[in-house]
Amino acid sequence: MKFYITTPIYYANDVPHIGHSYTTIASDVIARWKRLNNFDVFFLTGIDEHGAKIAAAARKKNRTSQDLCDEMSAKFKEIWKLLNISYTEFIRTTERKHLISVERILKILFERGFIFKKKYEGLYCLECEKFYSQKDLDESGNCPFHKTSPVIQSEENYFFKLSSFQTGLFERISNPNHKEYIEIQPEERRNEIIGKLKLGLEDVSFSRTSVEWGIPLPFDRKQTVYVWVDALINYITGVGYMADDAKFQKYWPTDIHLMAKDILWFHSVIWPAILMAAELPLPKKIYSHGFFTLNGDKMSKSLGNVISPNELIDKYGVDAARYLTVTLIPFGPDGNISWRELTSKYNNDLANNLGNLVSRIIKMTEKYFNFQIPQSTINLQLAKKVAAILSKSFANSMDNMQFHKAAEVLQSAITLINKQIEIDSPWRVVKIMDMRKLSSCISSYLQAIYIVVMHLLPFMPTVSEKIWNMMGGVGDVNEIARKYFADMMIPECGFSVPHAKLSAMGILFPRVEK
Ligand code: MSP
Repeated sequence: MKFYITTPIYYANDVPHIGHSYTTIASDVIARWKRLNNFDVFFLTGIDEHGAKIAAAARKKNRTSQDLCDEMSAKFKEIWKLLNISYTEFIRTTERKHLISVERILKILFERGFIFKKKYEGLYCLECEKFYSQKDLDESGNCPFHKTSPVIQSEENYFFKLSSFQTGLFERISNPNHKEYIEIQPEERRNEIIGKLKLGLEDVSFSRTSVEWGIPLPFDRKQTVYVWVDALINYITGVGYMADDAKFQKYWPTDIHLMAKDILWFHSVIWPAILMAAELPLPKKIYSHGFFTLNGDKMSKSLGNVISPNELIDKYGVDAARYLTVTLIPFGPDGNISWRELTSKYNNDLANNLGNLVSRIIKMTEKYFNFQIPQSTINLQLAKKVAAILSKSFANSMDNMQFHKAAEVLQSAITLINKQIEIDSPWRVVKIMDMRKLSSCISSYLQAIYIVVMHLLPFMPTVSEKIWNMMGGVGDVNEIARKYFADMMIPECGFSVPHAKLSAMGILFPRVEK
């Protein structure tokens, strides 16, 4: 089975901050989870390179727009590599294949009579690259997202007959039994979109005369394609539209478009309308998560509180940074994050709970068995308990993108193993020289932790593999996890062989001071 997931393509005017890495890490966690569940995953991310905003940023730096985009493309890729983002393709909207696909879609829309010319004057927010009507601005007449005053822009543009799709979109978004149903999540945001759709749709301008840095319209080269239309089309270019039909047929439509609420309207209304006009299949699911604030403030350059993903990595390490980013606050609603909470979750979940568990099992094995997995009857009792805890709600939480809940249940499984160690008190067992019992205890902890590690893989791919190998797990953990998630069977012989050697390690998650 195929699974196609996308992140937004981020504006190439600046380097990524943790807002961007939030969506990208979440997408990566889903992509990895789906791969572990034996899906053939296509994971697309990239950057949005055209439009007035990018051109203005380049001018400010005395650079050409292309030059700035080249630099940003390298920067985004570098950070995604550092964060271990397993994307299938990184798309840039200045690529030739994208130009071909944008031209094709606009030509189709034009030929089918969905594009017409009209003089227009409106309030434009450059940051959003979007026209606003007075009623959508805040009380001070500013953009609700950027709090900046929009400028009046007047042009003769080509318009898209969005209004013709009102009924069609309404049916597809509100009726789960529609054969082209588009599932918008979470529920409250779906209701907002349905509410807005009920109010009616106005036609939208799809071209610009004043923006040179864009793709020329195929039927009027004096105008360029509106950057949002150009950007949305990336989702089909990325899976081979116009370039590789077999790939396109295989992966399109997308299973999830993931983004924050700021750009949900474009994804759930404008984009499906374009696809309907071009007679292409519609996205299956659109998930919009919340916006997070930092210590209660919006992250912004002017407030000087923009956190880069590198800062998180420097403080906690790559895998912990990934884990914390997506599990600190519930995914979906808005939320607030702070260094204090990040550090306390790091210390509680990773340094104390998981880190401590791994280190005490290794120390015991070192002390009593010289690092070798004891030759004993395999004891799967605890592993089965852990598997039962996880099987109940982990998959469910992951499939519903409730990463904080998935993390909670993982932590409770880790706590259970830690508690079992206290109950067994192997240090007392040693005193009475019951080596059979001791072997059985160690075996049970190891088998239980292997189960935990397989579930940790989507969040912490490198650390999970490291723990697996350090603890003598046999074979490639990803392969074994794929098999496990397919049949949910713990092999009778467990996941390791007697006498396999454990290895000592430094501290996996050194404590971080608040
Ligand atoms: N280029 C457009 C998207 C085109 S997609 C066809 C764009 N780019 S953006 O750089 O502004 O990225 C917006 C996205 O970045 C949000 O939808 C979200 O995924 C992510 N986030 C940026 N800041 C964020 C927060 N503070 N909180 C949560 N998500 C954040 O819009």
